[in-house]
Amino acid sequence: MSRVVLFENIHPSAKEVFVNAGMDEVITHAASLPPGELQEALSGAHFVGIRSRTHLDAALLSNAPDLRAVGCFCIGTNQVDLDAAMLHGIPVFNAPFSNTRSVAELVLGEAILLLRRIPEKNARVHQGHWDKTATGAFEARGKTLGIIGYGNIGSQVGTLAEAAGMRVIFHDVEAKLPLGNARATTSLKKLLAQADVVTLHVPGGKSTANIINAAALAAMKPGAILINASRGTVVDIDALHAALQSGHLSGAALDVFPSEPKSTDEPLNSPLIGMHNVILTPHIGGSTQESQENIGREVAEKLVRFGLSGTTKGAVNFPEIAYQEALGAARILHVHRNLPGAMGTLSNMMAEHGLNIVSQQLQTRGQIGYVISDVEGKVDDTVMSVLRSHPITVRCDLV
Ligand code: NAI
Repeated sequence: MSRVVLFENIHPSAKEVFVNAGMDEVITHAASLPPGELQEALSGAHFVGIRSRTHLDAALLSNAPDLRAVGCFCIGTNQVDLDAAMLHGIPVFNAPFSNTRSVAELVLGEAILLLRRIPEKNARVHQGHWDKTATGAFEARGKTLGIIGYGNIGSQVGTLAEAAGMRVIFHDVEAKLPLGNARATTSLKKLLAQADVVTLHVPGGKSTANIINAAALAAMKPGAILINASRGTVVDIDALHAALQSGHLSGAALDVFPSEPKSTDEPLNSPLIGMHNVILTPHIGGSTQESQENIGREVAEKLVRFGLSGTTKGAVNFPEIAYQEALGAARILHVHRNLPGAMGTLSNMMAEHGLNIVSQQLQTRGQIGYVISDVEGKVDDTVMSVLRSHPITVRCDLV
């Protein structure tokens, strides 16, 4: 019997997946809980689902002996102490792709709106003006979209943009297979010089900090548009403000900011506030009903697959073992300290208790090794307690 505890109003699609898989003890909480209550809510939980507001630190994880896996029903996983989870034999899963399409649609929509100067025209009509001019308004068809970071989201944006008749070029630090008619440029500078609309889809971190700075903005075509729905650290906001004020850029759309408000009532602090050719959105690129539903399903399926077969494919902190059909009478999941001879020790313990190994898959990562063994023979409480109590063992479960 497995108990699943879900926090932070995770989409009901997740519960549906657990129940369909026979894991029907699902407890849901509408919000994250303060540490004391969280500890209590985790007690007896085998699988836990959280979003970004629930922090699972080393102390909480070490006081949750029944916990087998954690699902982050979002993209980010830094709310969990991943190393501590790994050292307790707990894989952590997330949903890296479920909101890709939502971000891509928003970016294409913003490109079209900005090419037509709709934010500004919308504001003018609200202010009582009826300015029917076509000056500065362009179709997307035939324009060049420059994508910086041609990963999951960037490549989706390219596919959608081509469907709208745009020419797609991209720049990535890795060699990428171009989709459709997209073309890689040989440098960022070349992309900036050709694109009518530049959109960023790179990760955050030091290597991408301020890649769009004053020099990069100056290298963009006069009248070009900049869109950033990746990370707030990627664009130098003061330099962008200057490029918009001088008219060098005709518009911008930002969904992410170097410093973002922490709550609904806190205003965004940015020099771009009030500019009618700038679309500002509160980091909602991936926030749609569809993406929430997809995330619910994607992460729940990963937890169910792990729960039923031990597969850890897609875990962010754990040796990854892909799904393989069970072959023996029982399947034993063994997490051990990654030391020489660990496999021999495990095999000997199994042999001493009359278990014949039919199939075995091992992967190691850092300080731990993870092995799935399909065995013939009687796997009773005695064998399990021998395996669990051996000093090499981090944890051991039967599925
Ligand atoms: P991904 O990892 O699939 O793609 C990132 C790409 O950027 C990779 O191809 C990588 O090689 C490339 N890259 C890394 N450094 C680069 C550099 N200096 N120059 C050019 N290319 C570089 O990531 P994914 O899923 O496409 O996400 C992209 C960004 O979107 C991430 O920063 C993510 O946090 C953000 N995001 C934002 C959301 C929102 O709500 N606005 C929602 C989901 C993701």
